[in-house]
Amino acid sequence: MSHESNARPSPDVARAETFADLLARRFERRRVLRAVAAAPLFLALPTAGCRRVPDPNIRVPSTSLRFEPVSASSQDAVRVPAHYRWNVVARWGDPVLPGAPPWDFHAQTANAQSRQFGYNNDFVAYFPLSEAPDERGLLAVNHEYTSAEHMFPGLGKARPSREQIDVEMAAHGMSIVEIERGEDGGFRLAEPGRWNRRITAETQLLLSGPAAGSEWLRTSRDPSGRRVAGMLYNCSGGKTPWDTVLTCEENFHNYFGGAESLPADDPRAVDHARYGIEPGLSDYGWESAHPRFDVGREPNEAFRFGWVVEVDPFEPNAMPRKRTALGRFKHEAASVTLAGDGRVVVYSGDDERFEYVYKFVSRDSWNPHDRAANRDLLDHGTLYVARFDADGSGRWLPLEFGREGLTTADGFRDQADVLVRTRSAADALGATRMDRPEDIEISPIDGRVYVALTNNTKRDADDTDAANPRGPNRDGHVLELEESGDDAAAESFRWDVLILCGDPSQPDSGTYFAGWDPEECPAISCPDNLLFDADGCLWIATDGQPGTVGVNDGLYAIPVRGEDRGHLRRFATLPAGAECCGPELTPAGDALFLAVQHPGEKGSLEKPQSTWPDGTNPPRPAVICVVREDGGRIGT
Ligand code: FEO
Ligand code: CA
Ligand code: CA
Repeated sequence: MSHESNARPSPDVARAETFADLLARRFERRRVLRAVAAAPLFLALPTAGCRRVPDPNIRVPSTSLRFEPVSASSQDAVRVPAHYRWNVVARWGDPVLPGAPPWDFHAQTANAQSRQFGYNNDFVAYFPLSEAPDERGLLAVNHEYTSAEHMFPGLGKARPSREQIDVEMAAHGMSIVEIERGEDGGFRLAEPGRWNRRITAETQLLLSGPAAGSEWLRTSRDPSGRRVAGMLYNCSGGKTPWDTVLTCEENFHNYFGGAESLPADDPRAVDHARYGIEPGLSDYGWESAHPRFDVGREPNEAFRFGWVVEVDPFEPNAMPRKRTALGRFKHEAASVTLAGDGRVVVYSGDDERFEYVYKFVSRDSWNPHDRAANRDLLDHGTLYVARFDADGSGRWLPLEFGREGLTTADGFRDQADVLVRTRSAADALGATRMDRPEDIEISPIDGRVYVALTNNTKRDADDTDAANPRGPNRDGHVLELEESGDDAAAESFRWDVLILCGDPSQPDSGTYFAGWDPEECPAISCPDNLLFDADGCLWIATDGQPGTVGVNDGLYAIPVRGEDRGHLRRFATLPAGAECCGPELTPAGDALFLAVQHPGEKGSLEKPQSTWPDGTNPPRPAVICVVREDGGRIGT
């Protein structure tokens, strides 16, 4: 690393170059479009499932995708198109903090792990660090969960020891690492500098917003209900215009055991059951070493998980904050945009079968001129849940205490109660039960919102609806939303199906690609993480294809505008057993980051399914960087 590593200009320089700039441009463009095109874009919306007639008021760019698609793969390898290459940026165990010891598979300790890159990387966010925003930056990467049988030699299916549990806890959370571009165009870890950070399952965090301090969140260890150790099962996330990262706690129920200790009619037991905390031992068994994960001993600890956590990558000593105003559920992601008046809107899905799609609208507007003024924007606002109606319309239903369905007569005490028991509140309002909402992304071109619904094998054929039209839904689908008045804060929207996933080569596959000929599209299944590039092309990462269409997971690109709308192409395939996470692009779009999660998941240390990335056992989850050999923009 060069001596310049700590010479980052003020965050304002980088911010002006990146996400804030993009949002501001989008905001301005949409303001102009609204003025030009008074009619809503969904004016000509046909019934769900049919191809939309393009709006004549919008000039639609033709697609810029020009890569040669890769074929399906079952290989234990990363495969990218011809004239592209990839390299590992950071793998499990790589040093994050200065002085971190080298990774030693046979002698791993919690202390070492807490200074090294964690396990099962998922969300990836790039923040430029210099006036050359595409040359040096911070990568914030979260670590969703651990797989003890792949981490500890000889463990097999046995329960991990206390020491091993502590290693697992240290392998959770988030890594913030400084990266720099090499001569070959790929990014790699820089020497650990002042921004590098590890957040683990033991790091002290703050609870903020309307539910902070409420009775639900108080424990014997924290009578204030405002401080919590760690963040768990961090799945996807988002970035804010003020350059912080949002990381989402998803399947937190897996960590809590002993639920049978509470009487079945105890309100806490009822809520734990609603969130899937079952009687008996937890999946992870951490309660054997840390009583806070034992519901019988600490009945409220589980209420302190299932939140969106905001981390400031430019303040390594600042405590991350769990933003309770955004509700408590199994958050997949938290994708941010701006309303017409500058208020901040955050979309988030609850990834479980038959759960809901939400959005949060802040009370106050983003201040682009004063970073500090935005610090607590996500503590005040309104949380909504989505109802999708059969005629292609939809409503955002406010989860506000005192409104119909959410009063004391309905069993809710106050807004903190509504937010801690978000699922029950959404039940009460009649929200639409979806097929596992995963990532949600917003088009930078027109603000349309895309929702990945990964699958739902438990939906019966006679329990379908217009927005979840297949039962069982093995392969998942993607919905396209248009907010009323082209304003992200609207309380109503129009919606349509963008794609119905599956293998189009199979008879009666039921696939649909926004009207494009399915025979020209590859198999795709279980859409999970989404990304938009600057041209408004949607990128879809998958999780679960080996079990459905029989090929490795990977990354796909699909134009959603112009003549090529619906023409899906496969860009990358991942190693055996791995899920495709991330994805993320640099501001210029000339480097793509993918998080390769759980390579070799179906194997064991004795019979490895994968030896990726280094040809050794065990396989190691890693973030990779993909670039074009000629340095051009990815996909074009
Ligand atoms: Fe952690 Fe919904 O994927
Ligand atoms: Ca995911
Ligand atoms: Ca995403």
